[in-house]
Amino acid sequence: MKEITITSTMTIYENMEELPSDIHELMLQAIEARKQAYSPYSNFKVGAAIKLDNGVVVTGSNQENAAYPSGLCAERVAIYYAGAQYPDAKIESMALTAASDKHVVDEPVSSCGACRQAIAEYEIKQNQPIAIYFMGETGSIMKSNSLKDLLPLIFDKEYL
Ligand code: THU
Repeated sequence: MKEITITSTMTIYENMEELPSDIHELMLQAIEARKQAYSPYSNFKVGAAIKLDNGVVVTGSNQENAAYPSGLCAERVAIYYAGAQYPDAKIESMALTAASDKHVVDEPVSSCGACRQAIAEYEIKQNQPIAIYFMGETGSIMKSNSLKDLLPLIFDKEYL
């Protein structure tokens, strides 16, 4: 028997002004996308902006449904659109932001497990890490250099 330790390294930016200028711009696009969320059930709005290596930015927001499980998170709305429209482009970075109609979200909100698994598929497909920046509505921004830092022990095609 032995134990192993798995570590992840994150970068924290105190505020949006600290972000590199291209990521600052990407986060602004995520904020705009967040405003388009359709979330009458949770009143929780999430925006995602994805920068591709062809220069295109794809955005998405969470889309809810009266049959709750039929809704989809912002990350997957955006990444599946990117995969469908630009199958040969590589994803360089993602900016994510979340806000609630009920309270101020002032700390970084990381993606749900299902979205991490979805992002993992594309990171593995393109064989290049995806930088992920996530924040609330205000406050600091957390960055992971790779999806693998958010989802260790990924289930991938090697198991199939
Ligand atoms: N949501 C996202 O869009 N992304 C996440 O990673 C977590 C949750 C959405 C789904 C639902 O519309 C609302 O936030 C509340 O869970």
